[in-house]
Amino acid sequence: MSLRRVGILTGGGDCSGLNAVIRAVTRTAIIQYKAEVVGLENGFDGLIFGRTLTLTTANTKDILTLGGTILGTTNKGNPFAYREFNDQGEIVIRDLSSQAMDTFRRLELDCLFVVGGEGTLELAHTFQQMGMPVVGIPKTIDNDLEGTDYTFGYQTAVQVACDALDRLHTTGRSHDRVMILEVMGRNAGWIALEAGLAGGAHIILIPEISYNLDHIVTKIQHRLRGGSPYSIIMVAEGAREQGGACITQGSAEGRLQGVEQLGGVGFYLANQIRARIPLEVRTTVLGHIQRGGTPTAFDRVLGTRLGVAAVDAAARKEFGTMVALKTPDIVLVPLAELAGICRTVPIDHQLIRTAESIGVNLGREVM
Ligand code: F6P
Repeated sequence: MSLRRVGILTGGGDCSGLNAVIRAVTRTAIIQYKAEVVGLENGFDGLIFGRTLTLTTANTKDILTLGGTILGTTNKGNPFAYREFNDQGEIVIRDLSSQAMDTFRRLELDCLFVVGGEGTLELAHTFQQMGMPVVGIPKTIDNDLEGTDYTFGYQTAVQVACDALDRLHTTGRSHDRVMILEVMGRNAGWIALEAGLAGGAHIILIPEISYNLDHIVTKIQHRLRGGSPYSIIMVAEGAREQGGACITQGSAEGRLQGVEQLGGVGFYLANQIRARIPLEVRTTVLGHIQRGGTPTAFDRVLGTRLGVAAVDAAARKEFGTMVALKTPDIVLVPLAELAGICRTVPIDHQLIRTAESIGVNLGREVM
């Protein structure tokens, strides 16, 4: 088992714990295998344009607790369909994948560690099929990746959202208001559901269960009659009304990424509630605060375990795989089994039953 030189990139939206992974990969490769470590900057852009940074135990020594990624990242850089605006403001799409392959060969890497979510790992799988040895490392606050119990970054996001709810409770209770907290998660309701439960939300709306406004209004009125004139609503950015569509921002950046940016359902819902109940309603959009800052202890340990396991997998030449948490173990899952799957909250998930059992309304008739 040997390794000479390995590469690592972080792709897609950042999250807390990425630096823990970079540190673990670097230290394991150097300490256990005497290998060199090359960081590719800004996701696959680093591979396309040959932008690198040599990683050492010295320049990764203080990054365990640091949010973000010292390598930089982008969620625009798909080498197979690289999108740019031209001078006329039109989107131009080019295939730069052979340029990326050339860089990989020129750097004489034994393996590329690709740290990313669904989209980034799908790209990793395609490169693997083209002959580039890759090992994937799952990352996303959304926790929507198939094959792993948890992605690192998720727990930190849940903690941040839970802290926000704790604060909204005190101000909401003082003013007798309906307080709405909109959180990220794209098409998966994991953050909203788990943070909503942890933070004692009275109503939790997730993309997997389209909401009916009548049930939300009934729950708020029920609380009002019971002497609690304030309510806390946790809403996932991807939540939608029955028969309705997700609220998107329609931004130029979204068009460039080829992925619509979600956001705004918290304000939409506030207007809907105001039209039905004479209570003051306020919306807080937590946004990227969920992605930044210090990772929780859980995410630091998970990131470290995944980083070490990825280097060991590369030394055993187990390429085309992703390291994953199958509690209590770290296992290898073929990248081919994950492609294109978004792991949303199953409708019969125990978290859903738990929430409804304790009286949390999920925007539907209580079962
Ligand atoms: O996938 C992670 C995520 O934070 C989603 O929850 C969110 O919808 C999206 O990224 C936001 O992306 P951007 O950073 O491009 O606004």
